Amino acid sequence: MPGRTHSTADRAPAEKGIPCRLQPGEVWQDEQSGHRVGLGDATDFDFVSRLTEDKPITLAVQDPPYNVAMFPRKSVEQYIAWCRNWVENTLHVLAENSSLYIWMGADQKRHFQPLPQFMIMMAEFDLQSRSLITMRNQRGYGTSSNWMAVRQELMYYTRGKAPFAVQYTDIPKILRGYYKTVGGRRTENLERSHSNCIRPGNVWVDIQQVFYRMQENIQTLRAQKPLKAIERVVQASSRGSDTVLDLFAHAGTTLLACERLGRRCITADIEPMCVELTIRRLEHYRETGHTGWQQDDPLQYQPIGNNTLTETLTQG
Ligand SMILES: C[S@@+](CC[C@H](N)C(=O)[O-])C[C@H]1O[C@@H](n2cnc3c(N)ncnc32)[C@H](O)[C@@H]1O
Repeated sequence: MPGRTHSTADRAPAEKGIPCRLQPGEVWQDEQSGHRVGLGDATDFDFVSRLTEDKPITLAVQDPPYNVAMFPRKSVEQYIAWCRNWVENTLHVLAENSSLYIWMGADQKRHFQPLPQFMIMMAEFDLQSRSLITMRNQRGYGTSSNWMAVRQELMYYTRGKAPFAVQYTDIPKILRGYYKTVGGRRTENLERSHSNCIRPGNVWVDIQQVFYRMQENIQTLRAQKPLKAIERVVQASSRGSDTVLDLFAHAGTTLLACERLGRRCITADIEPMCVELTIRRLEHYRETGHTGWQQDDPLQYQPIGNNTLTETLTQG
């Protein structure tokens, strides 16, 4: 799997242990921005219904384990059956006009499973396929006997008339002299454009992923997605105070992106430690403005109290 290199860190997070403020099935409610964070299974219909309160979701960003390296591997058939469950749960709460983004891996040692099987499975659903985005992972595996694995795939689907706002990278436009006549006058490329920078298109080469050098790093976790990528998706495919769903929270990147962009986030993870870190990351951000702990141990962090994050809703 393209991503961060692994060692003993490949253990499931739960093995490393950290007390989580939630019991399985519970949902934590944030009073300040209305976010919700649950400890539960994405394939459990009742849990997802209760987590989302069956309110319509404008955007879902799902980043499941890829059946590749870091989590216990299933047969591809089992994996696809498992995916079908959480996709159905997601579609149950997706609004009439909405977007669904899914990160997925391809195992180059096993005929690129499960990406092709997953794509075929997705054709069962009444969704429009819109884009297959490849994000360049700036780190990748440093092999000299194969092409370096630096890709991460992101599928984009829509239902109805989903909102979309064009995004730009920080890469300046360099193509000059492309003339077009507008209103009888020959204009230069840059003169007509909305930005001096290029758009990301569906190949994203501008997203730094050398995490240990970045403030957003969450040392304890190994499958964190870059905040910049998630913010790009949230900005492109949601508006105002729309609600965004992520059933595989891990490091809470979608929650943090939503907090920074004024969206409401509903998120969950099956691992207690991931849920606790997801909430702590938000608390830490509100206290310090920092997006993560870089080289510091997030497990040592204790919120300094008096935060507005309170209520825990129990099951049922
Ligand atoms: C690839 S990581 C997500 C990374 C996340 N997007 C981020 O940037 O931090 C996958 C996560 O899915 C969680 N997970 C695995 N099976 C799950 C399930 N059945 N329901 C909910 N979460 C699950 C794992 O605990 C893990 O934290």
